[in-house]
Amino acid sequence: MSKRLIGAVAAIGLLAVAGCGNGGDTNGSGSGDSGGGKSEVEVFSWWTGGGEAKGLEAMVKDFGKKQPDIAFKNAAVAGGSGTNAKAILESRLQSNDPPDSFQGHAGAELQDYIKAGRLEDLNSFYDEQGLRDTFPEQLVEQITFEGKIYSVPVNIHRSNVLWYNPAVLTEAGITAPATTVEEFITQLKTIKEKTGKIPISLGAQWTADHLLESVLLGDLGTDGYNALWAKGGDWASADVTKALDHFKQIVEMANTEAASTDWQAAAKNVVDGKAAYVIMGDWADGYFRELGKKPDVDYRWAASPGTDGTYMWLSDSFTLPKGAPHKDAAIEWLKECASKEGQDLFNPAKGSIPARKDADVSLYKDYLAWALEEWKSNDLAGSFWHGVTANNKWHTDIDTAVGLFLQSKDVGKFQTSLVDAAKNGGQV
Ligand code: GAL
Repeated sequence: MSKRLIGAVAAIGLLAVAGCGNGGDTNGSGSGDSGGGKSEVEVFSWWTGGGEAKGLEAMVKDFGKKQPDIAFKNAAVAGGSGTNAKAILESRLQSNDPPDSFQGHAGAELQDYIKAGRLEDLNSFYDEQGLRDTFPEQLVEQITFEGKIYSVPVNIHRSNVLWYNPAVLTEAGITAPATTVEEFITQLKTIKEKTGKIPISLGAQWTADHLLESVLLGDLGTDGYNALWAKGGDWASADVTKALDHFKQIVEMANTEAASTDWQAAAKNVVDGKAAYVIMGDWADGYFRELGKKPDVDYRWAASPGTDGTYMWLSDSFTLPKGAPHKDAAIEWLKECASKEGQDLFNPAKGSIPARKDADVSLYKDYLAWALEEWKSNDLAGSFWHGVTANNKWHTDIDTAVGLFLQSKDVGKFQTSLVDAAKNGGQV
């Protein structure tokens, strides 16, 4: 029972309604160039930065070998976690100018696109490619609506990772990373007093949203956190107040790098020995290795405080938008995304574990070997910031509340706006 993708939209996949909806199959409706749209493929993501672009490049190179006649057009828009990309994507979709494929998070975020009728269903693609059993069943539920599957997941990322610089902890006299949120706050104070270094590093505003989900999970526990995203989840509770108060204390101990440096500069502070901690998704592992930093020497990792035994997951998946101008080429791209070779090239560079169940585990070393083991045994919680549990509206409303809180540091107002966000965003 523990291994369930709870808190998202798990039930939706069960609501198979024959003949419902107007999503087409993977044949037929592509317009685009002659020959079924195979001259190029425009792929939209937000992977432009350190660590992220490298994973994409690895897969694109493999695609180029298999499909030398399809020009790959990289339409990536900079901005970690899609902060800029998602708005640009929305305006392109609204003006009927979709890319051939775009990155969308499995879960509530993808369900938004599906319900808005933006995506082709991929049922026949899954059948033709024999993909029905390739991915974990619970992950497939997150990309399914009314019995139809709508995307191809390339990875599983972990959100709740505490990255730390072992030398800075030693300098502060700390022998092990904190295992509860309260201990974490105590340690942050010790680090500041004893080393004068940055206790915890933050970057662009979304890195605070990212931190928030780990603090909520750490304080409320897996069931308490997951319950927040279900209908009737109690955002007004005293437990949430306590977590938000902890969040405030942690933020007060953080430095904030310029927003323009996104998440990378915040993470880099740790491997450069300027900061003790950063709570960031495991794309940081890809970035650290790209910087030439040594796992276990320059950086180590643990579950974020209070979350040991729970994998706060998210998954990047690629879609086939309705009206994609080069539909046939997009199908070839989706084949690459689904393939074992593609996933085993992409994920070790990206800092994620494969979505496929049959990947070559020998390629996943150090942090990633740990992540693969954890994925097998941990309980699961869905990342709200990275699209699993909160739809786009709810996500934006929480971000607005976090932005105001970072100015005011008023926990009471913050909690009220989170209560409102849950009501208006529509807890599913
Ligand atoms: C996440 C995305 C990851 C990574 C991260 C930072 O939302 O799923 O693949 O790119 O943002 O940009």
